Amino acid sequence: MAHDFALEDNFLGSMEAGYDLPTEYLPEHAINPNIAEEAVRQYRLNEAKPNQNLTTFCTTQMEPQADRLVSEALNTNAIDKSEYPKTAAMEDNCCAMIGHMWNIPEEEKFRKDFIGTSTVGSSEGCMLGGLALLFSWKHRAQAAGLDIDDLHHHRPNLIIDSGYQVVWEKFCTYWNVEMRTVPLTGTEMSMDVDKAMSMVDENTIGIVGILGITYTGSVDDIQEIDRRLTEYNKVHTDLPVHIHVDSAYCGFFAPFVDGFKPWDFRLKNVVSINVSGHKYGMVYPGVGWIIWRKNDEEHLPSEMRFAVSYLGKSVDSIAINFSHSGAQIIGQYYNLVRFGREGYQAVMHNVRKVSMKLSEVIAGTGLFEMLTNGAELPIVTWKLRDDANVQWSLYDLEDQLLMHGWQVPAYPLPKNRDDEIIQRIVVRPSMSMTIANDFIADLKQSIEELNHKHFIK
Ligand SMILES: Cc1ncc(COP(=O)(O)O)c(C=O)c1O
Repeated sequence: MAHDFALEDNFLGSMEAGYDLPTEYLPEHAINPNIAEEAVRQYRLNEAKPNQNLTTFCTTQMEPQADRLVSEALNTNAIDKSEYPKTAAMEDNCCAMIGHMWNIPEEEKFRKDFIGTSTVGSSEGCMLGGLALLFSWKHRAQAAGLDIDDLHHHRPNLIIDSGYQVVWEKFCTYWNVEMRTVPLTGTEMSMDVDKAMSMVDENTIGIVGILGITYTGSVDDIQEIDRRLTEYNKVHTDLPVHIHVDSAYCGFFAPFVDGFKPWDFRLKNVVSINVSGHKYGMVYPGVGWIIWRKNDEEHLPSEMRFAVSYLGKSVDSIAINFSHSGAQIIGQYYNLVRFGREGYQAVMHNVRKVSMKLSEVIAGTGLFEMLTNGAELPIVTWKLRDDANVQWSLYDLEDQLLMHGWQVPAYPLPKNRDDEIIQRIVVRPSMSMTIANDFIADLKQSIEELNHKHFIK
């Protein structure tokens, strides 16, 4: 039955409050917008509280000033650069600032020589980075006389450590690229560079170095990969191998804290880097960035550049996605302007302090062996000690913490170490010491509850 909008717009007592919301078919009639708003809000009631979600890397809190700017820009379309030229300029400014933050050599000045784009997230950035490696390899391989249509002998391959994020599996599947994964063995939590180099051949389109392995919270030694590839490339001048760095969550963290070896454009074989703006870039999902070292055919082949003219004037389009709101670009630009180097440093310093505190307390229970302790990346991972002598598993602890509202995933390590179950906390900028202390109290309580539960069974 249709409602008259002039009638009651309170949710309580409304007809809609007595029925389920539609799930399959478009309803015949319109309803009062106030009632619709409350009904949809109630539908979301038992979703995770963002600050208790210790699983995600994604931003759950921006400043009120950013919130205002972002919501004012929600109705814009970032791709429509003739209608929104200032948003387009801010996108270019962000690319330039991020490229310089990653130490693009001064002689390769941004506006002329290097190039980048915003993306919806790192997945799109990785996809573009992989494609640029693939197309530029194809050009080199053809010039070197390889028959690239002979997939039996010349199927392209990509080398990556087995802690990769799923986007790389998608990339290799979509584009029929052989994925050569470097297994984690023994106590290794990142790429074994000797093993990686032993996999390189004339069909290798590139090595992906991960700066911030999703599963283990460690980093690949990009400096060492670069050193080894420099040696390799000296001998293989017609088919050199380059590096794409997937710094989805670390690209906005490493530049602001101590302890990371060079990993960015300081290394000359690094041709492109992606980052998620919505992780430590501190913008709401979804925004990411990819920057190429050089704006030339070698790094970003012409197959990947498209000119689009129907929006008023011809614009270059590199990204895969077309229409999306300009709001996240505005949010990113706001953050860069607002925080600057000093502000990002202050935020990341706190993130590291909280990570180390959490790690210290978790280790202090005597039950867990820490795999990463937050001293490098803001990821704290642990497993149960062999001598923990408890009747419960990390999966039980995950469930118990959820009863206190905290989401802390337990999962197996990647291939070759997948019999080891670990648990992980991602410390985000919004996790103040107060929230960390609340978590610690609930962790201790959860352990007691589990011990008790299993004791009385
Ligand atoms: C290393 C790595 N690469 C890629 C991604 C995908 O990023 P996004 O969620 O921004 O698409 C992630 C996400 O966690 C990641 O950790």
